[in-house]
Amino acid sequence: MPGLIASLRVAHYFEDSPQAASRPGAVTLVLPDLHLKLETDRGVFSPERIDLGTRVLLESVPPPPAEGDLLDLGCGYGPIALTMATRAPAATVWAVDVNRRSLELCARNATAARLDKVRSMHVDEVPQDVRFAAIWSNPAIRIGKPALHAMLTRWLSRLVPGGSAYLVVQKHLGADSLQRWLTSEGFPASRHSSRSSYRILKVSAASGGSEG
Ligand SMILES: C[S@@+](CC[C@H](N)C(=O)[O-])C[C@H]1O[C@@H](n2cnc3c(N)ncnc32)[C@H](O)[C@@H]1O
Repeated sequence: MPGLIASLRVAHYFEDSPQAASRPGAVTLVLPDLHLKLETDRGVFSPERIDLGTRVLLESVPPPPAEGDLLDLGCGYGPIALTMATRAPAATVWAVDVNRRSLELCARNATAARLDKVRSMHVDEVPQDVRFAAIWSNPAIRIGKPALHAMLTRWLSRLVPGGSAYLVVQKHLGADSLQRWLTSEGFPASRHSSRSSYRILKVSAASGGSEG
């Protein structure tokens, strides 16, 4: 039976080191202000096309702060991080993930786009003292509620006072309950906009300031 169980093992895009054999591909990210070809691969999130939620986020958010440190939480192959870096060329964009294949792709895509202020790295490698002026994310809802909550608390606590996060979440994957939970945890969350089946949540830094 162990062989059968092993063969039924489901691969997840949020694995640290994807087991799926590599099959390089490419997608095009076209927005009113940019046009980027991005390398993708199996074992990462949405390798065949830019995810619709990601697109809705990038078409809805206000421009990022022009300077400082910005965060793409769960960068995948980098569509959000590279858009932030294009819109805020003087800022440093931290593109973090747990999936090593995604991180390599994101780094390569940033280099190809000549966006040399993108720092693509594992979540545990970001220096502890960095604080973010903005966070944009298509968060990994499918990791489950406890892990999602821990991930969001970890990074939202590192917003600078007055900083904001924009999160895209599908309605049927719990956008409204996530909004309520964030607010109850001291991160005031509101609905910035809504399109198709997606909500864009705006989350403000906790009033006590960022974690020291
Ligand atoms: C919904 S995908 C979005 C990917 C990319 N930003 C995009 O828009 O195409 C979520 C990403 O979060 C990553 N992820 C999963 N668990 C994470 C964690 N604990 N911390 C940071 N990223 C995580 C996944 O590996 C995945 O790349």
